[in-house]
Amino acid sequence: MKTYIIGNWKMNHNIGEINNFFSFLNTEEQKKELARILRDENKEAWIAPQYIHIGMVKDLCASLNVNMRVGSQNSSTHEKGAFTGEVSAKALKDIGAHFVIVGHSERRSMFKEDYKMLKDKIALALSFNLKVVFCIGETLQEREEKRAVSVVRTQMEESLKGIDKSVFASEIILAYEPVWAIGTGKNATPDEAQEMHAAIRGILTNSLGIDPETAAILYGGSVSPTNISDLMKQKDINGVLVGGASLKPDDYLKLCQAQKR
Ligand code: 13P
Repeated sequence: MKTYIIGNWKMNHNIGEINNFFSFLNTEEQKKELARILRDENKEAWIAPQYIHIGMVKDLCASLNVNMRVGSQNSSTHEKGAFTGEVSAKALKDIGAHFVIVGHSERRSMFKEDYKMLKDKIALALSFNLKVVFCIGETLQEREEKRAVSVVRTQMEESLKGIDKSVFASEIILAYEPVWAIGTGKNATPDEAQEMHAAIRGILTNSLGIDPETAAILYGGSVSPTNISDLMKQKDINGVLVGGASLKPDDYLKLCQAQKR
């Protein structure tokens, strides 16, 4: 099983900042280290910048020659047509995106993306050979009401039911991001995360008929170079989806260095 270190840059970084990020990584020493990590530790290092920077980040990743990948934070529910301001999965594939994040809680809550829209986005992304990083997670209130697992189950069932089981393991990565842990500095404890990740594997088998051992499940929510090691020790955590800490190249490198044990 691969380990994923995915940076979700959200609506951050301009061209100058992106160049600085890659200049830091583009020294012989850092490139050698990144190449070693990705090769020897079976890891994938992915970055999702804003749409307009995807092409630029793709070229900068290529310049490192270490197999880092670029992807998108979102994509349209529609294939093409009169949808002003939208970006299609096909256009993302064209520009070199490797993956698309679908169902981030910021999109569910601020942009009112519902289960059906997310299901459509997943189908379109897969049809254009984009990998999908599908986000799930409960709010604080839902957790306090002891509904966290049932909320996550519904999110998975409503948007993943009917998915081609034979492509799930290779094309879809799940990211458990408790809403209360995103951007708050308050991450789920390793035990809390492990408990939910184990529950998610149960939902994969029981509700979706998918072999849970083949699925990658990432944790996201205030992951930092300081807390990543304890999270990565958890059996059912196959990597991380990181916002704030992925913006700084030295922190991003440290996240990549954290051992999966
Ligand atoms: P933070 O790491 O900033 O909490 O963001 C998490 C996240 O939303 C990643 O998608």
